[in-house]
Parts: sequence; structure tokens; C-alpha cells
Amino acid sequence: MDNFPTLRMRRLRSNETIRSMVRETELSVNDFIYPLFVVYGRDKKIPIPSMPGIYQFSVDKLKDEILELKELGVPSVMLFGIPETKDSMGSSGYQDNGVVQEAVKLIKDTAPELMVITDVCMCEYTDHGHCGLIDADGTVNNDASLELLAKEALSHAKAGCDMVAPSDMMDGRVGFIRKCLDDNNYSQIPIMAYSAKYCSSFYGPFRDAADSAPKFGDRKTYQMDPPNILEALREVSLDIQEGADIVMVKPAMAYLDVIKAVKEKFGYPTTAYNVSGEYSMIKAAGACGWIDEQRVMKEVLTSIKRAGADLIISYFAKDIARVLSRK
Ligand code: PBG
Repeated sequence: MDNFPTLRMRRLRSNETIRSMVRETELSVNDFIYPLFVVYGRDKKIPIPSMPGIYQFSVDKLKDEILELKELGVPSVMLFGIPETKDSMGSSGYQDNGVVQEAVKLIKDTAPELMVITDVCMCEYTDHGHCGLIDADGTVNNDASLELLAKEALSHAKAGCDMVAPSDMMDGRVGFIRKCLDDNNYSQIPIMAYSAKYCSSFYGPFRDAADSAPKFGDRKTYQMDPPNILEALREVSLDIQEGADIVMVKPAMAYLDVIKAVKEKFGYPTTAYNVSGEYSMIKAAGACGWIDEQRVMKEVLTSIKRAGADLIISYFAKDIARVLSRK
């Protein structure tokens, strides 16, 4: 019996030491990027009800959070801004003293080694909540939006960010932003492009957190249709041609096949965004005692890495850093 080839599989799983020696995928705190929501004003740390453990911070309250991330060894953050005023042009997104710009400066003063990535999009700054400019007929004007997105990216670079991450999904924005950064002597700033960003229902809690839900319509004309994977490959290919240094698939859990296909086809550094809805579902079921939150978290994050993600943007970054350091 013992010599049946199939039993070799069992032998390789017979104890934890062997299991860990033959393990193919191992999470590291270095894989993670932690999203931060920066709100205007002072003395604010506002809990987001649909995302337990996640807050909006005013810039003056960010410091402790940054020190905690440093302590935990989380190497990178991704910034989203909630400005005081919104208009049709999203102009609060590209002011030198905007919330994100101020947050970048504070983080770089507090922990210079923390990699600061800024989300570049208009939905948090426009009164209509769309990711680009809106024409009189209610449609998004792709080309007119590019100029403003590039302005926003440039203002982040001027503030001192390490990388920009356009999430708007306008066509041509990676090339446009690349040229603008290069023309202004920021050619060393890489672009992490939200390349295959789906029009997903998993973003609900984020839109509470970032106050960025569209006031009319939806994002179907610029975000991708969930059933499509070939289109994702075309989107990634275009972003790479336009100069993206890192490409992204978003969401993660329901799109593991897309992550795998993108990684295998292009071999580029690939980020997966473990989005708000994925986080909140696990937190909620965990709080009900229906699942073991920590184990499910680890299993899900491991599956994202196993699918091919090199970097993972996740609201779990602090939780997983704690779990990994306990080993
Ligand atoms: C902005 C943006 C969104 C997310 C990241 N950047 C929301 C959206 O496209 O509506 C979602 C992130 C999350 O759900 O955690 N365009």
C-alpha cells in the first residue's frame, strides 16, 4: 500500500514542517499597499460604518496611523482624498494645497521610506461624482478629462509622491500622464495603471468612504463589463504601450482568472486591488461568527497572490501584517 504513488501526496502533507517546506505561495508584508482616506479639515478620525476598522483621517491626524504602518512593516500606502469643495471640473483634485497633496508632504516628513502612491481620479472631486468631465448631454468627455487628470498627477508628483495610480479608466490617460510627468522633469515617477478595472458592485463601501458615488447614471461607459476577459488583455496591452510600469486588475476575488491571464500574457508587475466590498463581506461574516475572519482573510489574500499578483492593495494590510509577524 505504502508504495502507491498517490500516497506520496499524503506524505508531503504529513506535518507542518513538510507542508511549509513545499508551500508554493507565501504572503509577505512586502506585498501590501494600504489605502488611506484623507479628509479635509482638522482633528478628524471618522469611522466608515460599512468598513469596520477603516477611517477617514484629516491630515493632522494621519501621523499616528503612519507610525503604526511603519511599526507593522507595511511598505506602501495609496491615498484617496475627500475635499471640502467639489465642482464640475474636480478642481480641488489638482490644487497644490489639496488634501492628498498635503497628506503626501506629511507622510514624507513622518516616514520618508514609506512608498506613497496617489490615486488619480476625478470622482472624489467632482460634484457629479463621475471619473471624468461631463458634457451637456450627460456623457463623459474622455479627451477633455485627460488634461485635468494629468494636472492632478503632476500636482501629486510636485507634492512628493513616489508613484501615481490613475483609476479613472479614460482611454489614453496613461500616455497623457506619462508625457506630462516627463515634460515636467518627473520622468522618474512610475505609473501604476488601473488597467482592467471592472464596473463592479464590490465598490459600494468605498463610495461611502470616499464620498464618490455618481450622482446620476453609472460607470458602465468607462469601466469594464464583468463578463469580459479578452477586453481586459487589450486594456492592459494599451496601458503598457502607453508607458504603464505596473498594471492592475480590480476587483480581485471575483477576477482571479483575469489576474492569472494578465500575469501570464504580459509578465509585467501586476497589482490586484482587494476592494472594499471584498473586505466588508469578510469583516461582516466574521463579526457574525459565521466564518473565521483571520483564516478567511489569509486564504483569500493567498489566492490572489497564487493567481499571479505581485502587489496587493488591501484594507487588510495591517491585519495581515499582524498575522504574518506572529509566525
Ligand atoms: C475611483 C476609485 C474607486 C475605487 C478605487 N478608485 C471607486 C469607483 O471606481 O467607483 C474602488 C476601491 C474599493 O472599492 O475599495 N475611481
